Amino acid sequence: MRDGFSWGVSTSAYQVEGAVREDGRGLSIWDTFAHEPDRIADGSTGDVACDHYHRYGQDVALMADLGVSAYRFSIAWPRIQPTGAGAANPAGVAFYDRLVDELLGRGIDPVATLFHWDLPQDLQDAGGWTARDTAYRFADYADVLGAALADRVRLWITLNEPVVHLIFGHLWGMHAPGLHLFEDPFPVVHHQLLAHGLAAGALRGHGPTPIGIANNYSPAWPVGPDGRRDSATAADRAAAQVYATLQNWLFTDPILRGEYPAGLDAFPGAAALETLVRDGDLAAIGAPLDALGVNYYNPTGVGAPSHDTPLPFDIRLVEGYPRTYFGWPVVPDGLREMLVSLRERYGAALPPVYVTESGCAYADVPAATGSIVDSERIGYLDGHVGAVRQAAAGGVDVRGYFVWSLLDNFEWGEGFTKRFGLVHVDFATQVRTPKASYAWYRDLIAADRAGRG
Ligand code: BGC
Repeated sequence: MRDGFSWGVSTSAYQVEGAVREDGRGLSIWDTFAHEPDRIADGSTGDVACDHYHRYGQDVALMADLGVSAYRFSIAWPRIQPTGAGAANPAGVAFYDRLVDELLGRGIDPVATLFHWDLPQDLQDAGGWTARDTAYRFADYADVLGAALADRVRLWITLNEPVVHLIFGHLWGMHAPGLHLFEDPFPVVHHQLLAHGLAAGALRGHGPTPIGIANNYSPAWPVGPDGRRDSATAADRAAAQVYATLQNWLFTDPILRGEYPAGLDAFPGAAALETLVRDGDLAAIGAPLDALGVNYYNPTGVGAPSHDTPLPFDIRLVEGYPRTYFGWPVVPDGLREMLVSLRERYGAALPPVYVTESGCAYADVPAATGSIVDSERIGYLDGHVGAVRQAAAGGVDVRGYFVWSLLDNFEWGEGFTKRFGLVHVDFATQVRTPKASYAWYRDLIAADRAGRG
């Protein structure tokens, strides 16, 4: 990445690309899942999404006008290896070649995520992340990408939010692959971590491009049943610690400390780690990393478990804050708190941090004139940029901030009902309309650059 602070925007392949049947792309678990009945709130799929596969030139032009220095996108594994194994599909690789060249031609650093949840369906049929072999397949895929793109990608992100893929995809079943592995979740934990480690090793063989992972982090706030912190009991506080172990440390301690966090015996199935972890695994997982991606949206309210949950905590809504259209509390200071907690926990082992996702959903209904004045999003982003500045002033080495998202897109189980973009997308016509937040972000970036000379 270039010197200085990176201002960026983020997207992911299945959420924006569309063109799911083109140029030899194979099926992913999200193609399967979204086409099943009752999985997606509005019955939609990512078949077309933002049609970014065909309109990437226009989208990169929007980024150039915005003035961002970096774009974080993800690569669809089933475009590169349609079945998740074997030779690269040249037409799939060619799309990312074109995208990367277009970005570089506009002075924008390509930040490529290898996996943002769209596992090739054939690998899922062979066990998905429950199978150790998937980690080896992922390393092969990383090797293919390294050979094709390492000369131009400026930062690699191996996995996006393995904890969300675990919880939403493999426990609660609200995301693909729609599983409920409450009794035996640790294969999905360890094999994702191993995939990260092996892929990082494979990418190192292709040159000095920095490598990181993007984790989802959320301060675990003990709250009482009324959602308030001051009514939390000792049992709620204990449950919040257990939740923090899962949400924040499970996918970070092995990477930055080379060991699993203490306290995992609170979770069913943790004993399986004894056989899952083989010689050399933790060394591969814990190999030095160049960057840590922090995706932050809100703190999580946690209470002691009630009778009807297989998990050792209850998730409770944090009360006393404004909420986004998703119902998530708006707490910019939670980002500062999280960044400082990471520095305190990992000390010198914490690599430079990039906030790889930060953003919010609002209704974003166009006015009669067509303009979209998303003042709440501006307030949200302004607060979170301020939190990053405070964390940096407090000594956290934060090198970038990426808004989620450039475009309104396919919001997983919520379909097209939740808009996160700086740019509004009319999904019937594919017309893009920059919102007021786009102009706000453009001005912020310009002012920051002018200030830094
Ligand atoms: C994911 C994005 C998602 C965003 C908003 C993040 O957890 O990485 O893909 O759109 O949250 O829900």
